[in-house]
Amino acid sequence: LSGLVTLDDGFVNTGSTLSGITFLDGEEGILRYRGYDIAELAEKSTFLEVAYLLIYGDLPRKPEFDAFRESITRHTMIHEDLKRLYDGFPKDSHPMATLGSMINTLSGFYTKEASDPLDPVGRELSIHRLLAKSPTIAAFSHKKSIGHPFMYPNNSLSYVANFIQMMFSVPAERYEVDPVVERALDLLLILHADHEQNCSTSTVRLVGSSRANVFAAISSGVNALWGPLHGGANQAVIEMLQHIQSEGGNIKKFVEMAKDKNSSFRLMGFGHRVYKNFDPRAKIIKKTCNEVLQKLGVKDSLLEIAMQLEEAALKDEYFVERKLYPNVDFYSGIIYRAIGIPTEMFTVMFALGRMPGWIAQWKEMIENPSAKIGRPRQIYNGSTVRPFVPAEKRG
Ligand code: SDX
Repeated sequence: LSGLVTLDDGFVNTGSTLSGITFLDGEEGILRYRGYDIAELAEKSTFLEVAYLLIYGDLPRKPEFDAFRESITRHTMIHEDLKRLYDGFPKDSHPMATLGSMINTLSGFYTKEASDPLDPVGRELSIHRLLAKSPTIAAFSHKKSIGHPFMYPNNSLSYVANFIQMMFSVPAERYEVDPVVERALDLLLILHADHEQNCSTSTVRLVGSSRANVFAAISSGVNALWGPLHGGANQAVIEMLQHIQSEGGNIKKFVEMAKDKNSSFRLMGFGHRVYKNFDPRAKIIKKTCNEVLQKLGVKDSLLEIAMQLEEAALKDEYFVERKLYPNVDFYSGIIYRAIGIPTEMFTVMFALGRMPGWIAQWKEMIENPSAKIGRPRQIYNGSTVRPFVPAEKRG
């Protein structure tokens, strides 16, 4: 099973990938983007600056960042023909369906630049367009789902404030972005920005390794993220907490159900493929949760249930033995709710955060001169050779 470790194609035969973007130590609960600890970036940086760091490898000097921000700002609007595609979606389409479709369709609008990922100029332009238009596409998906008019980008605002105004402003009223909301969202996006070779990032790298265009590769990541075991967990956590609340808040009953192998119930937002210690992002989000709710004067009974659930699980030997701790999805939904983001938009928020990480990982793979098409191998456990049997003789 050990297999040969061949680093030449970027996909190491033992199923690992060589990458220099994000370092994660699951036993120690360490997460670093390009060597910078996640707690320091969350406290001192901004999401757009972290996006630059992930994509280009270093924190930008002022002229570099100004040029980057200027380029992103110039591309926040989407083509009016792309906007018209929203008319074709049923009103209650899940915003992840729209997000994935619209991102893939960007390759229909920027065919020339996207057609050759090896062309550095077209690649750069496609990356900036993707980063710039994702918040617009996401906010338009939300407006579509509530039947409100789409609010165009306002480029005098920051990247995150622009998204907030596109999400919540209406033509009928003046709208001011609350700095508490902007800061909370900026922090959540930073914490979701990359996470080495998780399911959706591996999907982006695999699709991108065939030299499909960046929009096609990233839209495949959006679809992988949608699953409830991955990015869809943040929506599933809130639905779980609401269910527990509607059943009278019997924490012990649900902790026992999560341990029962005959039950399909799992504690959503708990456990991780790699972290066998606290997910460092969950720690920061839990702390921010209390701060944001206090500053916004929001009381959310689900927070109380979440904290009771965490306390009960962390004392229970089933969870302790299996090193199951709250992950990034456990508390993030409480903050999204406090900000006024609807539950079905939670995974879209995860995708907006992960956008620079997907882009950085795709870029790293495409720029690797020895990268080959991804071709994970298998261990065959099917039938041995057998002769064909005509239908009339199959008994
Ligand atoms: C994300 O990979 C990434 O980096 C992902 C992510 C990112 O930033 O990209 O971090 C984002 O996807 C976070 C995970 C969000 N998903 C959830 O919160 C869904 C609930 N969690 C689980 O379904 C589960 O923990 C997974 C899917 C996350 C991991 O699944 P595994 O690999 O099966 O977990 P494991 O091998 O560590 O499980 C060990 C044991 C198993 O029991 P046994 O067979 O040993 O008896 O723990 C059990 C599992 O059944 N278990 C749980 C559980 N998670 C694992 N039991 C109850 N509740 C849970 N949440």
